[in-house]
Amino acid sequence: MTLWSGRFTASMDEALWKLSESYSFDHVLYAHDIAGSVAHVRGLRAAGLLTSDECDTLVATLEQISTEFEQGIFERRAGDEDIHMAIERRATELAGTVGAKIHTARSRNDQVATTLRLFVRDALSEIARQTLTLTETLVALGQRYGEAYLPGYTHLQRAQPVLLSHHLQAHAWSLARDVDRMIDARRRLNVSPLGAGALAGTSLPIQPSVTAGLLGFDEPFANSMDAVSDRDFVAETLFDIALLGVHLSRMGEELVLWTTSEFHFATLGDDFTTGSSMLPQKKNSDVAELARGKSGRLVGNLTGLLVTLKGLPLSYNRDLQEDKEPLFDSVTQILVVLAALDGAYRSMTFDVAAAAAAAEDDLLVAIDVAEALVAEGVAFRHAHEMAGALVGRAVREGRGLAEVVAADDRLAHLASLFAPGAALARRRSPGASGPLAGPEQLSRLRERLESLRTRL
Ligand code: ARG
Repeated sequence: MTLWSGRFTASMDEALWKLSESYSFDHVLYAHDIAGSVAHVRGLRAAGLLTSDECDTLVATLEQISTEFEQGIFERRAGDEDIHMAIERRATELAGTVGAKIHTARSRNDQVATTLRLFVRDALSEIARQTLTLTETLVALGQRYGEAYLPGYTHLQRAQPVLLSHHLQAHAWSLARDVDRMIDARRRLNVSPLGAGALAGTSLPIQPSVTAGLLGFDEPFANSMDAVSDRDFVAETLFDIALLGVHLSRMGEELVLWTTSEFHFATLGDDFTTGSSMLPQKKNSDVAELARGKSGRLVGNLTGLLVTLKGLPLSYNRDLQEDKEPLFDSVTQILVVLAALDGAYRSMTFDVAAAAAAAEDDLLVAIDVAEALVAEGVAFRHAHEMAGALVGRAVREGRGLAEVVAADDRLAHLASLFAPGAALARRRSPGASGPLAGPEQLSRLRERLESLRTRL
C-alpha cells in the first residue's frame, strides 16, 4: 500500500515501480531527511498543529529511526518508494496516529528540496576541507625541496626555470579558487524550501522562518514555486566539482609525465603505484591516470543534470529525481580522488638533479641575454632579435648558447648569465619563479588558505 492509496484502485505496475523508486540510491539521504523532519515537527508544534507531547513523540521516533539506519537494521518495506516515504512509513508504524501527522503541511517536493540542500551543504564543506588539505600538501612538498627547480614549460616546450615550490603553488592557487567557489555556492544554497508544500504553500498556519532557523538556513524561501523547482544549487555543485576535477586531472597528467623515464623528475611511493600483470619492470602511476580519467565522468554528471533541467516547466517535475545519482556520484568520486592524489604527493620523491639538469638547458637563458641587453639600453625588440640570432647560430652549429655568447667579443661579459642556477635567481619580479620572489608569494598563499579555512 502506498501513501497515496486513497486515490487509487490498482497498485503500481512492476515496470513503473522500477522506474519510479529511488530508495535504492536516495537512502544515503536518511540523516539529512531526518534532520529536516525533526525541524518540521518542531515547526508544526510552534504553529499549534501538534501538541508538545506529540512533538516529543515524533522527535523521539525520528531519533530511533536514525539509530536504526546507523546500526544498519532499518528495513525497507515493499511500497517504500524513496527515503522520505520509508521514514514516514516507519514513523507511523512506531508512533501510530501521531506518526500519521508528520507530513502535515508538507509535500515530498519541499521535503526533498530541503533534504538535498542539507546534504549538499555538508558535502561542499567536506570537499572544500579535503581540497584545502591537498593545497597544504603541495605547499609542504615545495618547502621540503626548498631549492629544487625544474624547467617551466609553455606549449610543453622548456621555457624558463622555475622553483618546484613555485610550480606546486600554482596548482595550490587554482585549488584555493575551487574552495572559494564552494564556500560561495554553500552560502547561496543556504535558503530553506521547507514550507513551500507541493508548490503553493498551505492553508495551515506554519512559519517557514521557524524551520529555516532550526536547520541553520540563512533565510526561508520567498517564492514557493521557486523553492520546489530550483536545482541551481545542484548544478553549481556539479560545476564546482567538475572544475576541481579538471584541475586534479591536469595535476594527474603532470604526474604521469614527471614519473616517466623520459622526464624522470619524480617517483611515487610503492604504496601509491601499481605493477603490471605481465611486465615485471613496470611501476605505473595509475593514481595520476585515474585522477585524470575521473574528470570525464564529473563533467558528464554536470552535463547530464543541465540537460535534465533544460525545458522543465514550473514547478516540481519528477525529472528532478534524476538530480541525485549524478550528485552522489560526483561527491563520492571527488573525495576518493582528492584523498588518493594527496597521498600520492605525500609519497613523492623529487629527483632534484634530473630536474635541475633539464632546467640548465642553455637555451632557457636566451631571454636573460636579451634582458641584459635591455638593461644596457638596447630596445627590447632589437635585443630579442640579437639573442634570437645567437640561438639560431648555436642550433645551426651544434654548439651551446653559452659558448656562442662567450665567443662573441661584444657579448663576452654576459657569460656569467649561464652560471648554474643564475637564470632562476634572476626571476625576481613580484610573483616570479625564483627564490627572491618566493617568500612573499608563500605568505600570500598562506594568508589565502588561512582565510578560506576560517570561512569554512
Ligand atoms: N523521490 C522524489 C525525488 O527525489 C521525491 C519527490 C516526489 N514527489 C512527487 N510529487 N512525486 O524527487
